[in-house]
Amino acid sequence: MGSTMRPDRKACDGPIFDPRPTPAILLDDPLEFILADHYRQRQICHALRTMAAVGAVNQDDAIRITHFLRDELWLHHLDEDEDLFPVLRRRMRSERDLKLGQTLEELTSYHQQSEAAIAQLVTFLLADGSSEMIVVPEAMGRMMLAYAADEHRHLAIENGVVMAIARTRLTRQDRADISRRMKARRGLAD
Ligand SMILES: [Fe+2]
Ligand SMILES: [Fe+2]
Repeated sequence: MGSTMRPDRKACDGPIFDPRPTPAILLDDPLEFILADHYRQRQICHALRTMAAVGAVNQDDAIRITHFLRDELWLHHLDEDEDLFPVLRRRMRSERDLKLGQTLEELTSYHQQSEAAIAQLVTFLLADGSSEMIVVPEAMGRMMLAYAADEHRHLAIENGVVMAIARTRLTRQDRADISRRMKARRGLAD
């Protein structure tokens, strides 16, 4: 165990992140798939907070979290930026929706801004492949907490505003079109 592990904490016994991918069957309803991804992002935030509090992460959890951050999250960002948000913009009805348009722009900007933090997390989690338990330095712990806080704010807006509006505005055809594009992005047949 690393020397900087918080003395008042102990490492978790079991996995701190469920490694199962979002079920592909949910792609038939893209809003459900995106919501399921959001649930997994919340799990990642919880895992990062646990790692920061404990001051360590075991190798298996580091690999699981890396897989999501490096291999899945960028797909989720494209699902939103290239599919969900553009369709939602086409369904905006009035000047009252100008605020929604601005919110979507801010969310896309956040996706781009978060790439540096995600890359930093992945680099750290992959840096020490030989240790069973990876020590999380306090500076990295603070960075994990900051990323988790930003992600929570982002998810609150997406779930509380964007997804709520999408449920009422998207037509059946919109959902089918988004579903087809999200499947194609993952190399799956419609
Ligand atoms: Fe999202
Ligand atoms: Fe997002």
